Amino acid sequence: MSGVAALHCCFAFLVIIAFFTTSAASSDTISANGSIAGDQTLVSPNDVFQLGFFTPDSTNYYVGIWYKNIPARTYVWVANRDAPIKNSTSSVFKIGDKGNNAVILDQAAKIVLWSSNQTKANSSPANPVAQLLDNGNLIVREEGDTSSDNYLWQSFDFPTDTLLPGMKLGRDLTQGLDRFLNSWKSPQDPSSGDYSFKLDYHGYPEAFFWDKGTKLYRSGPWNGIRFSGVPEMQSTSAMEFTFVNNQQQVYYSFEESNTNMISRLTVNSTGFLQRYTWVEDSQSWSLFWYARKDQCDDFSECGPYGICDNNASPVCNCTLGFSPKNPQAWYLRDGSDGCVRKTELDCSSDGFLPLRGMKLPESGNTTVDMEMSLNDCRKGCAKNCNCTGYSSANISNGDAGCVMWFGDLVDMRHYVEGGQDFYVKLSASDIAAYGGLIAQNSSNNGLGTLAIVGIAAGGGILLLALGAFIMWKRKTLPNSHIRNTVPTGAHERSQDFLLNEVVVSSKRDYSGENKPEELPLFTFNTIALATKNFSDENKLGQGGFGCVYKCRIEEGPVVAVKRLSKNSGQGMEEFKNEVQLIARLQHRNLVRLIGCCVEMDEKILIYEYMEHKSLDSVLFSKTKSSMLNWNRRFNIICGIARGLLYLHQDSRFRIIHRDLKASNILLDGELNPKISDFGMARIFGRDQVEANTKRVVGTYGYMAPEYAMDGLFSEKSDVFSFGVLVLEIVSGKKNRGFYYANNELNLLGHAWKLWKEGKGVELLDSMAGDTYSVNEVLRCIQVGLLCVQEHADDRPVMSSVVLMLSSENPTMPHPKNPGFCLGRAVETDSSSSKHDETCTVNQVTVTMLDAR
Ligand SMILES: *[C@@H]1O[C@H](CO)[C@@H](O)[C@H](O)[C@H]1NC(C)=O
Ligand SMILES: *[C@@H]1O[C@H](CO)[C@@H](O)[C@H](O)[C@H]1NC(C)=O
Ligand SMILES: *[C@@H]1O[C@H](CO)[C@@H](O)[C@H](O)[C@H]1NC(C)=O
Ligand SMILES: *[C@@H]1O[C@H](CO)[C@@H](O)[C@H](O)[C@H]1NC(C)=O
Ligand SMILES: *[C@@H]1O[C@H](CO)[C@@H](O)[C@H](O)[C@H]1NC(C)=O
Ligand SMILES: *[C@@H]1O[C@H](CO)[C@@H](O)[C@H](O)[C@H]1NC(C)=O
Ligand SMILES: *[C@@H]1O[C@H](CO)[C@@H](O)[C@H](O)[C@H]1NC(C)=O
Ligand SMILES: *[C@@H]1O[C@H](CO)[C@@H](O)[C@H](O)[C@H]1NC(C)=O
Repeated sequence: MSGVAALHCCFAFLVIIAFFTTSAASSDTISANGSIAGDQTLVSPNDVFQLGFFTPDSTNYYVGIWYKNIPARTYVWVANRDAPIKNSTSSVFKIGDKGNNAVILDQAAKIVLWSSNQTKANSSPANPVAQLLDNGNLIVREEGDTSSDNYLWQSFDFPTDTLLPGMKLGRDLTQGLDRFLNSWKSPQDPSSGDYSFKLDYHGYPEAFFWDKGTKLYRSGPWNGIRFSGVPEMQSTSAMEFTFVNNQQQVYYSFEESNTNMISRLTVNSTGFLQRYTWVEDSQSWSLFWYARKDQCDDFSECGPYGICDNNASPVCNCTLGFSPKNPQAWYLRDGSDGCVRKTELDCSSDGFLPLRGMKLPESGNTTVDMEMSLNDCRKGCAKNCNCTGYSSANISNGDAGCVMWFGDLVDMRHYVEGGQDFYVKLSASDIAAYGGLIAQNSSNNGLGTLAIVGIAAGGGILLLALGAFIMWKRKTLPNSHIRNTVPTGAHERSQDFLLNEVVVSSKRDYSGENKPEELPLFTFNTIALATKNFSDENKLGQGGFGCVYKCRIEEGPVVAVKRLSKNSGQGMEEFKNEVQLIARLQHRNLVRLIGCCVEMDEKILIYEYMEHKSLDSVLFSKTKSSMLNWNRRFNIICGIARGLLYLHQDSRFRIIHRDLKASNILLDGELNPKISDFGMARIFGRDQVEANTKRVVGTYGYMAPEYAMDGLFSEKSDVFSFGVLVLEIVSGKKNRGFYYANNELNLLGHAWKLWKEGKGVELLDSMAGDTYSVNEVLRCIQVGLLCVQEHADDRPVMSSVVLMLSSENPTMPHPKNPGFCLGRAVETDSSSSKHDETCTVNQVTVTMLDAR
């Protein structure tokens, strides 16, 4: 005890006491001089919750609360999530020296490791106690005063990733509290993660699901019964939902009316909002609701004035009276630019069109009047030129109240069941064309019966409660295509960087928001450490010029590290080329370069990690190819077309990829295609049409005849490769290359033959499923055949390809003979074989190096 005298006066008292209180275990309360340490715990009065130290990774220790009687240890709250304890033997949890908060103290180091924020900072209680309640709330209060209004501090005001019954999600405006959920970083790491679920109290309040600064999903505003975007939510006898919105507070909360029910709402570390209930029989948590569930849950999937309908194909449709802002992207199933009015409003004769079964649009920019009738609401909206739509504010007992929207209407979707009415303002001429309500007509009855996106299936509506016992079952992502990137458009906008040189800086930025010219430079040691010294365990495979590893660098996201082999065909020239090119190119269908490393003779590129690896590994795999149904195949074809169009025409440089093939198309977690491997790419001058090279590089089977034979490359040689890819994606078969002289064995010849015989559809891979549009399939085959025509001049440019793919009934030329290059010998350089490190046996990569 000799060291005690030296302690800071504030802590001296606490520490001495801690030596005496060795057995505080299994009470629900700690008094001012009590504490818990080691494996001591607090247990709530009826044994429901338990508080104590825990370690998820055997290194970092935390103080947390978990269910005492649930064997699968489930933490509902973590005190020091961002301040882990390293020395568990010397740390205690107790009441702070001012008595109005809870602290974690390292006795040996005499430091406060974590301190709760004091809700009532100015109080100085005589006899403070900390107590763990049966609802999971840890409170600090004056002994003897159990009124919840007088709590000095409570953990419910500072949620971690879990909302328990009775907890409030939202604002206390008088105390300035914002209670929101934030995910763990990973299942083993409780520190603050990227995902949050947070209530926005502006306008007509609603909750947003955030990935750092990006909105991923929105609940829709509370409409009196439920969140407008959670149609299956309804209070039941088992669970009741509350939404409070007044001057003092705005919050959402739920209660279990049935005491046997254990339910929690949580934000998980991979970005989903989940509700679990405990199932006693199976002794397990049952997930019966989660968001984001489908493509239409993605925030603003169809852009302003677009309406998403997950049962439609494509999912996006414009509101009547609107047309796609960017038709080309729209028909390629990228609806994110949204729709524009066919006829501008004139602010005097405009009317309204009722949309049925809707999730209300984003509602931060609205005014709400709970007293106004729907009828007055319409008049009010008609009068204000900036008002774009309205709805009733409380639908729990007929229509009551009024919400008016100002500005663009974003993130609308249509539900077959459980949606609500929304009225969009349209010009008089569009109202005349589509029906609807004329503003001046004050009759509230006999509303037009026009349903906008299909008509809700009547009757038999089974509304599942957000808290019901029934699992919410649904076929998973029928049209899986969740984009987890920032809203589309941001990438394309960065074209201004294209003219800048690539500056390699040492600034790290994993956020994805780094400017393209600031490419992070990593040291070789960092990467060796991350890949466990390039261990086989971390190896993803071998590509054209080296090996690829999967790892995390310094706690960043999972990345793919491409280490170019030292004696690979890719010299310093190709390396610089690839780095400079790809760092400047930003498009959602091009793989993103995150950083690089150049040290001595090491050349390493760090890319975003693509979950499903390369297209060939899925498309040509017996077990995996069924993942690619026709819709996905079509999306992949369109995505590659967009990426290639960007390379050829949309970026300020004209870039010829020169090695487009299935193994260079990578697929992300949602099977979106991204073009990779720019080692061979060449920048073309603006007026340059074709170039000649002595180094013919590329992969047989994908090479255009004029390029393979004469070394002539141009955009049109990429178009040829694209055509081969299209036919491969449609047929699920690999093009064997032209050296298989027999046309019948050659994919191009086979496709051509079927096409000529009018049996094009037979080319479609049986693994693509039964659901497909014959028109789309034939269109793709025709585009493919047009692209592989023997003469480069006959082949379409990528902008025409994109147009043809995106139009329902395009006028397309008839394809001529595909290019086979029969009968012409190909020289191969004997040295090329040792440079070729391709693992895939089926695929012949041939590099003819300086065949002088
Ligand atoms: C803790 O403090 C209370 C009063 O503040 C006192 O009655 C009690 O004896 C103390 N307990 C210990 C173990 O010192
Ligand atoms: C942890 O605390 C104990 C007890 O105070 C002390 O003996 C030990 O040296 C500490 N360990 C570390 C790694 O600081
Ligand atoms: C306490 O509040 C401050 C800002 O008011 C914040 O930075 C800090 O993270 C909070 N601490 C805890 C433990 O919540
Ligand atoms: C997060 O939730 C989603 C949806 O329920 C699930 O697919 C995913 O595996 C969960 N992630 C983790 C780390 O549990
Ligand atoms: C409409 O919006 C504009 C600009 O946002 C503003 O200047 C104008 O006052 C608004 N009009 C009405 C009637 O609110
Ligand atoms: C909505 O209407 C119901 C029934 O009229 C009422 O009980 C409830 O308080 C209203 N909700 C709000 C937020 O005004
Ligand atoms: C709300 O709408 C008005 C009217 O169009 C617009 O001027 C304003 O920028 C919008 N505000 C927000 C936060 O979107
Ligand atoms: C889009 O909406 C219009 C009007 O309701 C409808 O005619 C059309 O079939 C819809 N398109 C799709 C693809 O759902």
